[in-house]
Amino acid sequence: MQARDYSANETLRNGRAVEIRALRPEDRAGLLAAVSRTSDQSLYRRFFAFKRGFTEHEIAFYLNVDFVGHVALIALLDEDGQQVIVGGCRYIVVQPGQAEVAFAVDDAHQGQGVGTVLMRHLVAIARNAGLKELIADVLPGNTAMLKVFRASGLDIKTEQEPEATHLVLHLT
Ligand SMILES: CC(C)(COP(=O)(O)OP(=O)(O)OC[C@H]1O[C@@H](n2cnc3c(N)ncnc32)[C@H](O)[C@@H]1OP(=O)(O)O)[C@@H](O)C(=O)NCCC(=O)NCCS
Repeated sequence: MQARDYSANETLRNGRAVEIRALRPEDRAGLLAAVSRTSDQSLYRRFFAFKRGFTEHEIAFYLNVDFVGHVALIALLDEDGQQVIVGGCRYIVVQPGQAEVAFAVDDAHQGQGVGTVLMRHLVAIARNAGLKELIADVLPGNTAMLKVFRASGLDIKTEQEPEATHLVLHLT
């Protein structure tokens, strides 16, 4: 399956069905709605800055993904008969063989395993693309993100930096 056509159905630990699929330009409204349901603290942990609004330039950057140097997946849950975006993750290749990853799940759906499932699929795509390493920076106190990375089973090297923990996850 091409990364841009990626789609998989999973069951969360509470029994709910979740679809993991490639982000599409037409997800704009759903993605912005998900951001609007996400707390300041979660957005800070994702963007390392207080983030409420996004410029058109930023929105275009996050939506128009080429699925080579930039891959983005979303998680969709059925809420009252509607498929709603509850989370997403992406990687951006920063140098040959190495990509930086980032995740966000809206607050109401955190702790249900969405992040862990997203990670599993992002790793599958990264491996398929021949990447060797994923890197991430995690702010102090963000145990949920660290748990998601640990649950991937990948070999992880951590480096404590003044403002954040820098992680290198080995795919090979
Ligand atoms: C980090 C994040 C993506 C994890 O997604 P998630 O769907 O909540 O993750 P999971 O449900 O798979 O949970 C992973 C672990 O973290 C725990 N966890 C999740 N949310 C938590 C919270 N708010 N507080 C404490 N622990 C939490 C879960 O209980 C689980 O632990 P367990 O395996 O021991 O049960 C999500 O919490 C989030 O969006 N946080 C804000 C944005 C962010 O931090 N991004 C990371 C920047 S790289």
